[in-house]
Amino acid sequence: MAMYTQLEQRGMPQPPVNVSTLRKMKAEGEAIACLTAYDASFAQLVDIAGCDLVLVGDSLGMVIQGHDTTVPVTVNDIVYHTRAVARGLRRAFLVADMPFMSYANPDQALESAVRLMQDGGAMMVKLEGGDGQIEIVEHLARHDIPICSHLGLKPQSVHKIGGFKVQGRDNDKASEMVQTARRLQDAGSDIVLLECVPSEVGDAITNELDVPVIGIGAGPSVDGQILVLYDILDITQGRTPRFVHNFQQDYNAPLDALQAYVKAVKDRSYPAPEHCFS
Ligand code: KIV
Repeated sequence: MAMYTQLEQRGMPQPPVNVSTLRKMKAEGEAIACLTAYDASFAQLVDIAGCDLVLVGDSLGMVIQGHDTTVPVTVNDIVYHTRAVARGLRRAFLVADMPFMSYANPDQALESAVRLMQDGGAMMVKLEGGDGQIEIVEHLARHDIPICSHLGLKPQSVHKIGGFKVQGRDNDKASEMVQTARRLQDAGSDIVLLECVPSEVGDAITNELDVPVIGIGAGPSVDGQILVLYDILDITQGRTPRFVHNFQQDYNAPLDALQAYVKAVKDRSYPAPEHCFS
């Protein structure tokens, strides 16, 4: 049908990325390059640079709004920024974060996900999940909502955890995380995102799952890498996490730095050992 042809091509040399593209990339061993974005101008640059997936992360609470955590971010905030980012993208797959307490039960999760997709234009929603979110993932999947489940360090739980810390260092916790990742996949997650875990845990979960595993501080074996845009462009001031690399330092133009990031993810020169946890 003409409408679908238009959606597939949109006049681009490469068709837009979708969940099948991401699964194929995992199967073929092509690293998936991902970044966050929060506005149309940066989204356009990130897309031109060749990023496969763009996340409107609730990290916007920290890097855009100036909060210390992601907890104050609302569904309205994410919808606003997702709309802007959607206007800047042509090829990259657009994922939006479900903010704190916007998915406390299955019905609320469905309502929030529908807002992010219908009002924001997201193609997938991401939630910070564990075994407690299985029922929610099943409910969303039953309604054909594409889902990314975020495991490892879950920033929305920062006040419960007591800081932004590496997760899964202890053997029992690591094997628990592998089992949880498998259960989230079986419940209907299309992607698992792993934050701040030892490289061996990233490796074990990537081997265990059929769906793509995207890492941030999860070592080199994962199927793709994601970083916060402002961290890699050296906009974030103060101490940045160990996994951050400043890609702007060798370039004048942000687009050059973004292209260097995509290249480093694709040729797997990022992350280097100094960006990884053991
Ligand atoms: O909110 C965010 O930007 C994220 C990334 C750090 C993965 O969840």
